[in-house]
Amino acid sequence: KKSMPLFGKKVMVTAGPTYEAIDPVRFIGNHSSGKMGFALADELAKLGADVTLIAGPTEQKSSENLKRINVVSAQDMFDACTEIFDVTDITVMCAAVADYKPKVVAGQKIKKQESTLILELEKTTDILASLGRNKKANQILVGFALETNDEENYAKSKLEKKNLDLVVLNSLNDKGAGFKSDTNKITIFNRASEKMVFGMKSKTEVAKDICKAILNIIE
Ligand code: C5P
Repeated sequence: KKSMPLFGKKVMVTAGPTYEAIDPVRFIGNHSSGKMGFALADELAKLGADVTLIAGPTEQKSSENLKRINVVSAQDMFDACTEIFDVTDITVMCAAVADYKPKVVAGQKIKKQESTLILELEKTTDILASLGRNKKANQILVGFALETNDEENYAKSKLEKKNLDLVVLNSLNDKGAGFKSDTNKITIFNRASEKMVFGMKSKTEVAKDICKAILNIIE
């Protein structure tokens, strides 16, 4: 059916931040609201896809026509994504995954120190890069990039390095774009080195543009 071009397709979307525990009461997080990923999951479901949304800690409500898996840490998100990746046709990684986590998680609340507290951090696993390494020819993998400088070059190199089919560049330089807002301004790059520039729009409209770029690959 024309209105359900993704009918029968299994789609995975990640959204929101991750929280990396420091001790039982503290964590390292970020300002991601999850709005962009939730809007994408909604639009993909409206196009008929069988959507699984893997969501970090967020206030967002998800619609009933998709399956939601709640996770907290980057490791949880990695486990959830890895478990279902093999059966997915399309994966869109919109989550703002922490790049570092505390090397040890204290079992008790860390007491106030005399002066400085030094936390040792280690790298989290790059989920998107890991999926990219395992991607099969018939799978579509979409990543996001958020940069403050030299954005276009970083976005293009991400496409190559992580073996993506599309990379969506989020501009932080534009007012009204990015984290908490209801609007966003994106540029999409594909493997054919095409650059698609879009204006500032609601995250729902942005999600529709991303869906169109995905449909273009399939057709
Ligand atoms: O390399 P960078 O973190 O800028 O790449 C951003 C993209 O990678 C986003 O799509 C994000 O969801 C994904 N990512 C991930 N796992 C990480 C870090 C980023 O899946 N640990």
